[in-house]
Amino acid sequence: MKIRNKALIGLLALLTLSPAVVFSETEKEKDDSRMEWWRDARYGMFIHWGLYSVAGGEWKGKDYGKEAGGPSAEWLMTTAGITPQEYRDTLAPQFNPTEFDAVKWVSVAKDAGMKYMVITAKHHDGFCLFDTDATDYNIMDASPFKRDIIKELADECKKQGLRFGVYYSQYQDWYHRAPNEHRAVIDYEGMISDEEYLKMVETNLKELLTNYGDMAVMWFDTGGMNVEEADSQGAVVRELQPKTVICSRLYSNKVKGKKYADFNSLGDRKLPTSRMNVDAETCMTMRKNWGFDRDDDNWKTQKDIIEFLAVCASRGVNLLLNVGPSPEGTFMPEEIERLKAVGEWLRVNGDSIYGTQSSPLNYDFTWGGMTQKDQSLYLHVMKWQPGSIEFNGIVGKPSKAYFMADSERSELSVSYTEVNHITKIEMPADVVDPNNSVIVLEYEKSIVTDPKAKGKYHWYNKREHQ
Ligand code: GLC
Repeated sequence: MKIRNKALIGLLALLTLSPAVVFSETEKEKDDSRMEWWRDARYGMFIHWGLYSVAGGEWKGKDYGKEAGGPSAEWLMTTAGITPQEYRDTLAPQFNPTEFDAVKWVSVAKDAGMKYMVITAKHHDGFCLFDTDATDYNIMDASPFKRDIIKELADECKKQGLRFGVYYSQYQDWYHRAPNEHRAVIDYEGMISDEEYLKMVETNLKELLTNYGDMAVMWFDTGGMNVEEADSQGAVVRELQPKTVICSRLYSNKVKGKKYADFNSLGDRKLPTSRMNVDAETCMTMRKNWGFDRDDDNWKTQKDIIEFLAVCASRGVNLLLNVGPSPEGTFMPEEIERLKAVGEWLRVNGDSIYGTQSSPLNYDFTWGGMTQKDQSLYLHVMKWQPGSIEFNGIVGKPSKAYFMADSERSELSVSYTEVNHITKIEMPADVVDPNNSVIVLEYEKSIVTDPKAKGKYHWYNKREHQ
């Protein structure tokens, strides 16, 4: 059934940004067994892909990425003030990504060491990358491509052993719901009433949670203040697939009791500035935009990304790293290069990230930070210090110390002073890994921290990536 009838102009959708949210303690007591794989995974791929990828940040000869300075790619409709009908009529017929190959995309993610994938099934522009009966504004009916991208990726992820999830913009929908306040408010073909829109979302959720196998993550975005609306959407997910992990952006960050939120999605590109005591995830771009932008050359380096991964893990946070594929359906060479480099680092040092807990300390050091797994500590030495490095706060001397990259596990010289519990490790003259040299410390007993220990955060404790 296609929804075609005209509707009154809806209320303007209030834009809500999603900076960090903090759950009440009660949220933590619920059954969270569904979170086990997610906590171990630590690292996933975010994919922003859709009609906006065809425009690539430009509209009628104007480059919104550079000139307007706003988020040009997936926000182009708003940034450029394009009416929904013109956006659809111009871009949908051009969306024909003939080079799209789910095997390639999933293989790149797997080789990169990523454990889960989240792709935009419906972004704020309202276009569905999956086959749906709830609207004709989808890849099967409105584009020449006529292939269910979500299905192809879900099936391939299953084959290659990655968990698959989708991003779904449940509240902001600039085609079906209310026009965004940046655009002329007009009455047009695709607009439906709020009641019909909520019915469409319910149908979409049922389709996504029925037709695509195990849905590991439902990554909602820019939730509104209507808790009842959000709860009803969360309840549909729970009922159809109780193991699906739900993002806190199902709700506006201003909402207090986020009944169905399983993890705290930190603000866009915002790294945790300290250790988190709730499940949390940082979503991060490799350049400025989420979606494809023709001339966005604000690339982060592979060292940046490896540091993000270590800093997030040391503070108990997952990293969801974004790619914005081309309109042809390919990842950028710069994205592939960075993903491969991080994948190589993870092949050597992955045990210091996957399945680890945060540092036992609520501070880090000039040389870097720590992750922990049982009786092992992993020191992420991101700033090489010839001579020696030291840390306070951990009681007792480790029985073994060696570089994770050293297959011989040659013992490092360690000294420990009881006063202030200072552990000191002699360092070789040459840096082991300029991105991040991981030192493994093995302790005979459970790791104990000094309650009187003091310290501060040195890494990404203020800088926010935009
Ligand atoms: C913000 C933006 C959206 C992007 C999301 C990624 O919510 O509105 O364009 O998809 O961040 O986290």
